[in-house]
Amino acid sequence: TGAFTFDPGFMSTAACKSSITYIDGDKGELLYRGYAIEELAVHCDFMEVCYLLKHGELPNAVQKAAWVQDVKSHTMVHEQITRFMQGFRRDSHPMAVLVGMVGALSAFYHDSLDINNPEHRLTAAVRLIAKMPTIVAMAYKYSIGQPTMYPCNKLDYSANFMKMMFGTPCEDYEPNPVLARALDRILILHADHEQNASTSTVRLAGSSGANPFACIAAGIACLWGPAHGGANEACLKMLEEIGDVSRVPEYIKRAKDKNDSFKLMGFGHRVYKNFDPRAKLMRETCHEVLNELGLHDDPLFKLAMELERIALEDEYFIEKKLYPNVDFYSGIVQKALGIPTQLFTGIFAMARTIGWIAQWHEMIGDPEQKIGRPRQLYTGAERRVVPPMDQR
Ligand code: CMC
Repeated sequence: TGAFTFDPGFMSTAACKSSITYIDGDKGELLYRGYAIEELAVHCDFMEVCYLLKHGELPNAVQKAAWVQDVKSHTMVHEQITRFMQGFRRDSHPMAVLVGMVGALSAFYHDSLDINNPEHRLTAAVRLIAKMPTIVAMAYKYSIGQPTMYPCNKLDYSANFMKMMFGTPCEDYEPNPVLARALDRILILHADHEQNASTSTVRLAGSSGANPFACIAAGIACLWGPAHGGANEACLKMLEEIGDVSRVPEYIKRAKDKNDSFKLMGFGHRVYKNFDPRAKLMRETCHEVLNELGLHDDPLFKLAMELERIALEDEYFIEKKLYPNVDFYSGIVQKALGIPTQLFTGIFAMARTIGWIAQWHEMIGDPEQKIGRPRQLYTGAERRVVPPMDQR
């Protein structure tokens, strides 16, 4: 009942106006603020892309230096947050820890909670971008029983993250610049993707006036699912399970079987009905990283390329316009970088934080924005009388 349009999954509903990210799914085109992802991935670093998404324009040298400095001045987390983390079991999934820790930031940074104060909003944005790598690395170190590392602000964003992940307090760890650049590229490619499920979650949470830390925690929770940010983890597990090129046809057959719930992870996309442009860049990065590490014969990479080749020639995948998405190769790159599978979605969250923040800011400043409140088509019982207990 009710005269509402039934649109499960929001297949044809635009819930907001946005000037941040543009996707043409048929052409396989992705633009941040009008710039093609292919150009940004080659000519810019992640900090420039963050500035672009947040402020609308690429920074000049002076603006970039000030922005980087601002972010660096917020990389530390309150010492009490370390104690908070110690309440988690060590074998917790890092995404569970991230949801909790990021949500808990609202209990520590009271001077950036007033969403009606532009200074508070900006400080919250910078804090989230700056602290995500620290928190993700802390969750990892905690899970392996090592002391957490303080951020090293002499290093760039991605190199600092690698040091917090792989360094130890007593040893000089020098991040490999080729690998740090690869990580930076992963961050650029995942930075925003218009109204995907987690971004819509952030907007929906924010539409009620919730503080930005709570909203981003909601986004992280949504990202965790295997149909969204969990796909890179699921994809790598799938490749490991397939194990050998000879078993690819068997898995392709399963993916096509209507009675089998198995799907080819890292394939298909709600919006792209052509190659995901990020997948091409990620495959390139995969080559670079494996070459740098002398792993050009990596069996998983070979398996992935074979799987891609066979799927792209298969009627089912052609007809349904299923192409590799960004997560098809990102798992292999991250594994080569030494990032454990369980942390892949955490890296995605670290990258997407800027997108969530930029979208949240845009929403807060939009005079047309209302509290998000979808309607429903009711399918339950008609009005009835509560029977006494002995008649139920
Ligand atoms: N393997 C086999 N069949 C598939 C796949 C796949 N990976 N993806 C879609 N299909 C089939 C699906 O069964 C359906 O068939 P039918 O028309 O016979 O019912 C048809 O293609 C349309 O798929 P859909 O699930 O209705 O499309 P959707 O837009 O609702 O879902 C998706 C998109 C990404 C959730 C889905 O393609 C999927 O589950 N892919 C695997 C998981 C994955 O790689 N996710 C990462 C997405 S990119 C990263 C991100 O943005 O988070």
